[in-house]
Amino acid sequence: MSIKSPGLFIAFEGGDGAGKSTQAARLSDALESRGLSVLRTREPGGTPIGEKLRSLVLDHGHGTIDPRTEALMFAAARAAHAGQVIRPALADGTVVITDRYIDSSVAYQGAGRGLGAEGVLSLNEWATEGLHPDLTVLLDVDPSDGRQRRTAGDATEDRLESEPDDFHAAIRHAFLDLAAAAPSSYLVLPANAEVETLAARILERVESLIAASSVPAPLDGETVVGDHP
Ligand SMILES: Nc1ncnc2c1ncn2[C@@H]1O[C@H](COP(=O)(O)OP(=O)(O)O)[C@@H](O)[C@H]1O
Ligand SMILES: [Mg+2]
Repeated sequence: MSIKSPGLFIAFEGGDGAGKSTQAARLSDALESRGLSVLRTREPGGTPIGEKLRSLVLDHGHGTIDPRTEALMFAAARAAHAGQVIRPALADGTVVITDRYIDSSVAYQGAGRGLGAEGVLSLNEWATEGLHPDLTVLLDVDPSDGRQRRTAGDATEDRLESEPDDFHAAIRHAFLDLAAAAPSSYLVLPANAEVETLAARILERVESLIAASSVPAPLDGETVVGDHP
């Protein structure tokens, strides 16, 4: 534990429409109301250059983007995010909650675009200098449910969301493979469970991680999480 930063790093992963943003917001609100320092962020994005890369890579209208170019753009945004935002916050004892991280690149560019998991992982290992989440919450969504949810109300789909169902099926399996390879670092939940049920299960797991971590206890002493003295 001594070389580990005092914060806690949590990533939400899963296909489009899985409920990542919904649950990231719920978790962040629950931890903040307990007096913890929380940073909620997202990928691609989280820095000014990352937001620019986000619109370049997700918006329609930039023509065909080569898969390696796409992987490098996500990794470039992630390098800035990890180095300038996530690491400093973790060093301050903040709970960092990110909506997507490395697993999304392994799934979308590795599996969806066919670049393979290995190369995409090593690119991202380099980009983040090996910064991995303490916990990844994987919301496992059936691709057709995800599409139905995200297009409800006629919302338009971005460049990756609008890929066909077999692309999204490959992504789903890639996420599940990553979780199966390191089960102690993952909480895998069915995305079609109730919002409240999911939020409670996620909070329970995160609270036990906080209790076992060096995240600083809240200052007021009354809203202490878990087993802090
Ligand atoms: N557990 C759930 N059950 C039913 N609908 C949900 C659930 N979680 C989220 N939603 C709805 O599905 C849509 C997509 O959720 P969102 O959190 O934006 O997904 P993501 O960020 O993974 O793309 C939203 O309209 C949201 O209100
Ligand atoms: Mg979202």
